[in-house]
Amino acid sequence: MKALVLSGGAGTRLRPITHTSAKQLVPVANKPILFYGLEAIADAGITDVAIVVGDTENEIRQAVGDGSDFGLTVTYLRQEAPRGLSHAVLIARDFLGDDDFVMFLGDNFVFGGITDTVEEFRKEGPDAQLLLTRVPNPSAFGVAELDDAGRLLRLEEKPEHPRSDLALVGVYLFGPSIHEAVRAIGPSARGELEITDAIQWLLERDRDVRTTVITGYWKDTGNAADILDVNRRLLDLLEYRVEGDVDENSEIVGRVQIDAGAVIRGSRIVGPAIIGPGTVVENSYIGPSTAIAEDCVIRNSEIEFSIILRESGFDSIRRVEGSLVGRNVHVSLAHRVPATHRLVIGDHGRVQISS
Ligand code: DAU
Repeated sequence: MKALVLSGGAGTRLRPITHTSAKQLVPVANKPILFYGLEAIADAGITDVAIVVGDTENEIRQAVGDGSDFGLTVTYLRQEAPRGLSHAVLIARDFLGDDDFVMFLGDNFVFGGITDTVEEFRKEGPDAQLLLTRVPNPSAFGVAELDDAGRLLRLEEKPEHPRSDLALVGVYLFGPSIHEAVRAIGPSARGELEITDAIQWLLERDRDVRTTVITGYWKDTGNAADILDVNRRLLDLLEYRVEGDVDENSEIVGRVQIDAGAVIRGSRIVGPAIIGPGTVVENSYIGPSTAIAEDCVIRNSEIEFSIILRESGFDSIRRVEGSLVGRNVHVSLAHRVPATHRLVIGDHGRVQISS
């Protein structure tokens, strides 16, 4: 069994973070979201992985390398444009051969991994096996309609009037018949070769397409709120580990991880929170559900329920909450009167100011 991990695409909903970097590499609990998927694949006993990449190919190659850190052998497949999930299967034909495979969307997070699902697929050997979960906003996803016996009747991609609240989770298991299906379909109204259309094609030919409704935690980390939520969930599992340098005027409360090389002075850190290597926190409060990456400087500030990417700085800012802050961003007080906000913000930035 092989794995096909999709890490191309444009990531427009996560702008401006994804103007300059891949959305699959946005860190949650200080680790790129894509790495959790690769770990789940390795845990399921799969070692042969192809990663579909687009414009952010170099960055993903740099982060994942040859896959050996994960116990995987990784091949990269360049997709010239994000033409759809079925298109990704098309370009992976040579890599996949006639093997069974799991297709994993690189921006999806599945709590508890995929081992059980892969085991079940291996045992039963259907043409396709899909994971479904109930969501409050099915129009944002592929939606499945089941009959009373739980058999799959129909799939629709992002329907305006969804027939159920069962969304397709971004983990799909396929046998080789999917290749015939992706060759047979044409582009959808939004111009993509949809995987939902390919699976629908299998269904209409009475192929064995099965579904499992999962109740565990799953997120498509398409937007900042979802990323903050995954971050919060992961930090809830954190264990207390302080390897950085914490002075006696600081207070560390609860499950806090302070990496080696971090420096904490005169600050209060209330977990669950993680502070990356090389980061300096001075006279500040870092509150629950916060992940601060490496080489940041936080002075005289208060930050809670937020993700701060590497090399960013906050000076004299009270207080930051529910925020996703990119790399090398610097936020400080404008000292002159009149009290004013001075902003240098990239395209598609979002700022909410409380005064
Ligand atoms: O997250 C689950 C949903 O994922 C499903 O419910 C939908 O049926 C499915 O179409 C997909 O919808 P999204 O709109 O969320 O897909 P997105 O464009 O965000 O792409 C998902 C991942 O695949 C992302 O990591 C980018 C990558 N990708 C996407 C396309 C369209 C590629 O590598 N190549 C592509 O051509």
